[in-house]
Order: sequence, then C-alpha cells, then structure tokens
Amino acid sequence: MIETKRLTKHYGNLTALVDLDLVIEAGDIFGFIGPNGAGKTTTMRILVTLLEPSSGQAFIDGLDITKKGKEVRRMVGYMPDFMGIYDDLKVFEYLEFFAAAFSIEHKKRKSIVEGVLELTDLQSKGSFTVDSLSRGMQQRLGLARVLIHDPKVLVLDEPASGLDPRARIEIRELLRELKRMGKTIMISSHILSELEEICDHIGIIEQGRLVFSGTMEEIRQRMGVQSKVRVQVANNQQRAIELLSALPEVQDVQSTGRYIAVTLDKDQNTDGIIARVLVNGDIDIVSLEPQQVKLDEAFLQLTKGIVH
Ligand SMILES: Nc1ncnc2c1ncn2[C@@H]1O[C@H](COP(=O)(O)OP(=O)(O)OP(=O)(O)O)[C@@H](O)[C@H]1O
Ligand SMILES: [Mg+2]
Repeated sequence: MIETKRLTKHYGNLTALVDLDLVIEAGDIFGFIGPNGAGKTTTMRILVTLLEPSSGQAFIDGLDITKKGKEVRRMVGYMPDFMGIYDDLKVFEYLEFFAAAFSIEHKKRKSIVEGVLELTDLQSKGSFTVDSLSRGMQQRLGLARVLIHDPKVLVLDEPASGLDPRARIEIRELLRELKRMGKTIMISSHILSELEEICDHIGIIEQGRLVFSGTMEEIRQRMGVQSKVRVQVANNQQRAIELLSALPEVQDVQSTGRYIAVTLDKDQNTDGIIARVLVNGDIDIVSLEPQQVKLDEAFLQLTKGIVH
C-alpha cells in the first residue's frame, strides 16, 4: 500500500534521508521508529506530498506521489507531530472546518463529524473549545480530523507523544479499531516498546537510513533478545560450566552462585542446545529460563550500531 524506492532528501548540505526502501502492506500497522533527527517526519511529509523528495520514488496504492498528488492526498490522512492551534473554535466547528476543506457536501458534514467524534470517544466534547481539551483528547481530536475524509491510509507522526499511560492505551485501542476498519497505518515513535504491541511490522531508521525492517518477532531475534539463559543444576555445577563453555554457540558462561548465566549467539534456539548438552553429561537440570533482555535496551544497542 505504501512503497518507497531509494527515497532521498537533502536539505541544503544536510542529508536527511538516504536511499530509503520501505514496503508497507495494506491493512498493516507499521511502526516507524528512530531517534530524534533520524528522518521520520521527513519521510512522512514526503509521503503525504507536503515535501518533495530530492531523488527516489514513493507510491501510495500504486500512485506516484510526485505525479498524482491530488489523488494521494484524498487517500491519505496525515496527523503532523504538532497540530496547529485553533484556540477559540469549538470541537465540532473545528471538524466541520476540515470537512469543508475536504469539499465534503454541506448536508453530509454533520453526520460525518458525529461519526468521527463517536469513533474517537469525543461525543460529549463537541461544544467544548479545542484549547479546553486535555492533551490526550487533543490527540484524539487530531485523529478525528484525519478520519473526516475516510482515508484508506493514515500517516501519524508521534500520535502518542506527551500522553500519560492511560491516554496511550486509549490511542492504541483506537488504532486497533481503525485497523479493524481496514485502514493501513504508518505510525512513528522513538520508543520501540510503545509500539510493539500494536505493530505488525517495524522499520527502524537511523540517520536517514533504514537499519532494520521486519516483524516484532524478527526484531527480537535480530537483537538477540532471547539469547541469555539462566540455568540451575542439581549436581556438578563446575562440570556443567565446562560443558556449556565448550559449545560453539555459547559466548559466555558465568557462575552466579546457585545459577549459571549463559549467553548465546543471537538467533539460537537456546534452551534446546543447553538442555541437550547437560543431559548428555549426566547433569540434572533444576531450572532453565530464557532471560528477556529488555526491548528498549536492545533497541539502544541496535541504534548504536552494535548489531547491524
Ligand atoms: N526544513 C528543514 N530544513 C533543514 N533541515 C531539516 C528540515 N527539516 C528537518 N531537517 C533535518 O533533517 C533531519 C531529519 O529530521 P526529521 O524531522 O525528519 O527527523 P525525525 O526523525 O522526525 O526526528 P524527531 O524524532 O525529532 O521528530 C534532521 O537532521 C533535521 O535537522
Ligand atoms: Mg519528527
């Protein structure tokens, strides 16, 4: 549904995007993750035709964004990282304004506005002024606004930033609902764990380059998230350490009192290898637990260039 080919953007001497190749399937929620200045907003602004690429191509539903701008804009709902402020407008006036901007017929506007207010759970706020809403409600209003013209594709730039945990969960549920409605959603964040539960696929961008793209499961494997195992044996711990240390898959073995901490090369089916060698060595296993390395820690490693 969204595809970029060698997308590149220079701002004067600064290169913000380099040969970015992205593919986002229809109906997916795609998490676009990267630290500040990585190029997320630049990519999104190009996709929604607010910015021209320096080179490369981008397509939405097969349409070239530089040639079919009007059609692309009709198909896409874009929520920028900072919303413009229309302080003294009431919520429904604000939405009717955008309905008018999308040339929605006058007589249909009211029911469409009511529909998006309901979807974003803001029905009771229609006659409140926009600036009287809490930050979480303003973010939901931002989503209501991009839904007005019923776009197939949503491009949301950090919609959960600055929200408290409850408001984040509400946004997440709303995104799930939108996915159920068949929308394709691209969403940016600099925190991987914030998106891990809802995203089908993740792309990690660093200094304008895509350093990883895949499913959450692939990302866990790639980052070696399950590569540590804590083992407890009933007898002969020293022998167990020797046997484990001799395995080619094992990077490191430490004795930590009752436990043995084993670090394996990433992408290994850790439990199986360890259990087999211990059992073959006549050592009784009391427990064997894969240790989750925290996702955000692993992500920091990835973006520091340790895992590439
Ligand atoms: N209008 C501009 N003129 C010059 N440089 C820009 C402009 N917009 C962005 N940049 C630069 O391009 C790079 C990418 O910026 P971009 O806003 O796309 O990053 P981002 O991933 O969205 O970051 P953040 O997480 O802070 O929102 C940065 O180095 C930024 O300084
Ligand atoms: Mg940004």
